Amino acid sequence: MKNRFYITTPIYYVNDKPHIGHAYTTVAADVLVRYNRIFGREAFFLTGTDEHGQKLQDTATSRGIPPKEYCDEIVTRFLDTWKRLNISYDDFIRTTQQRHIEVVLHILGKLYDEGEIYKSSYEGWYCKYEERFWTEKDLADGNCPDCGRPVSRISEDNYFFKMSKYQDWLIDYIESNPNFIRPEHRKNEILGYLKKKLGDLCISRPKSRLSWGIGLPFDRDYVCYVWFDALINYISAIGYLSDENKFNKWWPNAVHLIGKDILTTHAVYWPIMLKAMGIPMPKTIFAHGWWLKDDTKMSKSLGNVVNPLDLAELYGVDAFRYFLMREMTMGQDSSYSEQSFVSRYNSDLANDFGNLISRLTKMISSYENGKLPKVSEMESQDKEIKQKSIELQKKVKSLVDEFKINSAIEEILQLIRMLNRYIEKNRPWDLYKSENRERLGTILYTASEGLKSAARLLYPIMPGKIEEFSKIFNSQIEELISERAADWGWLLPGMEVKPGKALFPRIDVSKISKQLTKATPEERKTAEFIDLSDFAKLKFRVAKILSAEAIAGADKLLKLQIDLGSEKRQIVAGIAEHYTPEDLIGKSIIVLTNLKPAKIRGVESNGMLLAAKNKGEMVLLTADGDISPGSKIS
Ligand code: ME8
Ligand code: MG
Repeated sequence: MKNRFYITTPIYYVNDKPHIGHAYTTVAADVLVRYNRIFGREAFFLTGTDEHGQKLQDTATSRGIPPKEYCDEIVTRFLDTWKRLNISYDDFIRTTQQRHIEVVLHILGKLYDEGEIYKSSYEGWYCKYEERFWTEKDLADGNCPDCGRPVSRISEDNYFFKMSKYQDWLIDYIESNPNFIRPEHRKNEILGYLKKKLGDLCISRPKSRLSWGIGLPFDRDYVCYVWFDALINYISAIGYLSDENKFNKWWPNAVHLIGKDILTTHAVYWPIMLKAMGIPMPKTIFAHGWWLKDDTKMSKSLGNVVNPLDLAELYGVDAFRYFLMREMTMGQDSSYSEQSFVSRYNSDLANDFGNLISRLTKMISSYENGKLPKVSEMESQDKEIKQKSIELQKKVKSLVDEFKINSAIEEILQLIRMLNRYIEKNRPWDLYKSENRERLGTILYTASEGLKSAARLLYPIMPGKIEEFSKIFNSQIEELISERAADWGWLLPGMEVKPGKALFPRIDVSKISKQLTKATPEERKTAEFIDLSDFAKLKFRVAKILSAEAIAGADKLLKLQIDLGSEKRQIVAGIAEHYTPEDLIGKSIIVLTNLKPAKIRGVESNGMLLAAKNKGEMVLLTADGDISPGSKIS
């Protein structure tokens, strides 16, 4: 059991564009899994996407595409990003896959049969965007405390999971398993949260409000709450119910790596769901901090999201991975700026590591005919290098096992800096001139072995660059990362050394790209303005409604025939809950006429009408006065 490692990332909402935050968690998981493999453990790495829920349904509807088709189209953004960032996942789960749905259905059915799920009426404030209920006192100025959007008062029947009865058990479990929630301050945060009485968890959404989800097996009018569905991915992907051996092999070693934003769902809901199912707990839930941009959280609405592919494109995938791992103490927040990226790169990679590789290989090439020399008698300073290199293996291993990737990198860099000093102090160029071949050989060999030890341990962070490095020392990457290669003396005298082009060329600070440098709040505001030519792209016209009818199977939609003066058209509008067909006939409405035609629930729609929304109310924008259909709006 000790020799296995199963790591998961959150399954990201498929409709978000991957940004530096998603990249961080996924790269960190990749780094951990690659370390575990080079430490000789068997490892399994799971990531994936969360594909149900309101937001997905809304975007798909507005684009006139069935939700599943829409998911299939956009999941490629994650797949492509992970490919580009060299993420070595073993499995990618999507919650719309049958293998996942089957497990969710089974769990729902079982918990219902055992009386762990009951029906009850509920009244409270609902944030449609976050898909969450809030109590009056949760609200922030009457709005959703998470996203700040307006909430609506909802009163309806729903299904509840008896979470509250496990509260004492959970507190006890967390207290007696100190490695369960990490780091320590997150554990304390959850214990603090559990001081208040825990409620039961609403796990259903009526289909009349939200239909895109897994249907409850015991009530066809409801779908499963997206979080209850999503968490189950961690077991459905590794064969729970379908492949017992696989499940038992990996599950006891599970480490859930997440961001602190989703700690409660993972450290409270999930353990209780597992407990109610009689499934053992995962080993560890580790919540890291947030990447901030100029000290605020990155978010789409602030326009300060960093696209990981832009950075990787500009500076290389490995430099980007290095920066993410080096700059964040896992568990704390970190601020991103391009300046810090470039200065890290230049000092650690170009100056320290890159410089060591190029000066050492050039010396071997010119003083030793490109063949690694042999060691003669070792002096104490050479032995010290050897000692440090051997110790580094253990140190890095124990730091990585403690999720301290950035400290592990610091240890590796210390050896690299020590090797640079060792070369400067021993001046191989003078030894060459004075023809002290033995001492020269010993220095070059010792420095090369030290460098190999360090480079090998940087492989999980920079797999691409270290593969290039292995070629310089005439070996395959598989050999360099084998366990044997960790031993001192793995490099053989006489082997060929071929200096190539610099692995980490210096970045010229004056050339830092404009588009990535930080925007001031003023610049950001200006970026949000559009000019007249943008507006002119939107062709609005007055239209007269000729007829309106319901669409079978779509409670919210109406099919309208409209008169645009020069032509008649059909549009589909989501207003059935606010207007009856009779209300509409004869009204002069405003229509965006050059929206790409789409099929909504199989019905052709050629344009979009304008309506104003507020707290669940919706009113049509109409033309005031007598104006003929087709009139332009400008
Ligand atoms: O919450 N800094 O998905 P999500 C660091 N589908 N990490 C960040 C970050 C930031 N600024 N922003 C996002 C969901 N992340 C659910 C998860 S799991 C059963 C369901 C990372 O797309 C971090 O790992 O909102 C965070 O927890 C995750 O993305 C949230 O991704
Ligand atoms: Mg989120």
